[in-house]
Amino acid sequence: MANTIKTQVGIIGGGPSGLMLSQLLDLKGIDSVVLERKSRDYVLSRIRAGVLEQGFTDLMREAGVGERMDREGEIHEGVCISDNGVLHRIDLEKLTGGDTVMVYGQTELTRDLYEARDARNGKVIHEAEDVQPHDITTDAPYLTYTKDGEEYRVDCDFIIGADGFHGVSRKSIPESEIREYEKVYPFGWLGILSETKPVHDELIYARSERGFALCSLRSRVLSRYYVQVPLEDTVEDWSDERFWDELKARLPEDVAARLETGPSIEKSIAPLRSFVCEPMRYGNLFLAGDAAHIVPPTGAKGLNSAASDIYYLYHAMVAYYAEGDASGLDSYSETALRRVWKAQRFSWWMTSMLHQFPNEDPFDQRLQEIELEYFLSSEAARTSLAENYVGLPF
Ligand code: APR
Ligand code: PHB
Repeated sequence: MANTIKTQVGIIGGGPSGLMLSQLLDLKGIDSVVLERKSRDYVLSRIRAGVLEQGFTDLMREAGVGERMDREGEIHEGVCISDNGVLHRIDLEKLTGGDTVMVYGQTELTRDLYEARDARNGKVIHEAEDVQPHDITTDAPYLTYTKDGEEYRVDCDFIIGADGFHGVSRKSIPESEIREYEKVYPFGWLGILSETKPVHDELIYARSERGFALCSLRSRVLSRYYVQVPLEDTVEDWSDERFWDELKARLPEDVAARLETGPSIEKSIAPLRSFVCEPMRYGNLFLAGDAAHIVPPTGAKGLNSAASDIYYLYHAMVAYYAEGDASGLDSYSETALRRVWKAQRFSWWMTSMLHQFPNEDPFDQRLQEIELEYFLSSEAARTSLAENYVGLPF
């Protein structure tokens, strides 16, 4: 093919996973090409998560993209849980012996990564259509794609599938070679973004008889709020007024009383799902981030689980190219999955404890109530939440 590009690592997907890996590899002299199906503006218009574990922020700094995050991001030393109107604070810093989380939007860190790739002349190809991996079980895998009507080919040593849950990479592995584990929850989250002052300095995860709610934020002037909704609901069912009324009804009275409301600048509904694909490697194709696993957002673990995959892949690739040591690549799937499943357990646990489940039997309902009561009364249990929330070690 006339349009053939040669690189060491071919990366499918220009979300945080793909961009972070290409940036880290570049700093170690390893060449990559990122193929992204959408335009840059489209990727940067997606509103996603916003809570970063310390391991993630360390990786951002190592990638040379931590400056704005450290300036504009907010360190949170605690997080709140409200149970039917009563607010409880979990002191993350105290319970973990000094660890905290950083509130900094995924949109912002993706923008920082794009700028860093530009500054180093990184090859990030947008609007790459029909991306397809080939010969993934050989030593000479390659990718093909179409752009502006022309066909291209990328020859590489390894392919990274960082193309999210709906991407092409996982689907290019024969079904007989992988096992998929999935749990679909019978509700979704309706989220809004509003240019209002956050109702509280820290996040509030609220359990109430009317359903779960979350008060989050992006900055001192930008708030992100969610309410649990039935799966059948659509955005059209939820005027701003209805959203604010429902949110207030699920929060402690004094919090509701000081909630600043305003027009929503974004409103969307996301279903909740847990998903893991095993293994995360097939031949010379390595899956990372949402391409391999999805968590319900309750524990803020989606983006952070992607970061740990990238951490392992990055170190494995550096050992391979610098010393010919393939052991990190060989153990990648096992190592990454061990941490992925811990994040799955934590997200499932928080989701189960804080949401209303339709048609739940009374016994399970009582167990849920006592789970939360026990959790709030036991320092050991709160320590367990804290160490998971700030992030288990890589
Ligand atoms: N070809 C090229 N690019 C693709 C294809 C394809 N066939 N399919 C999807 N993509 C792109 C998407 O447009 C998207 O920009 O891959 C990118 C994947 O990015 P994300 O979905 O953001 O996934 P990831 O980079 O793994 O980020 C971690 O964890 O829980 C989430 O919110 C969190 O999105 C974040 C994710
Ligand atoms: C968010 O700010 O979007 C957010 C924060 C914490 C979560 C989920 C989402 O657990």
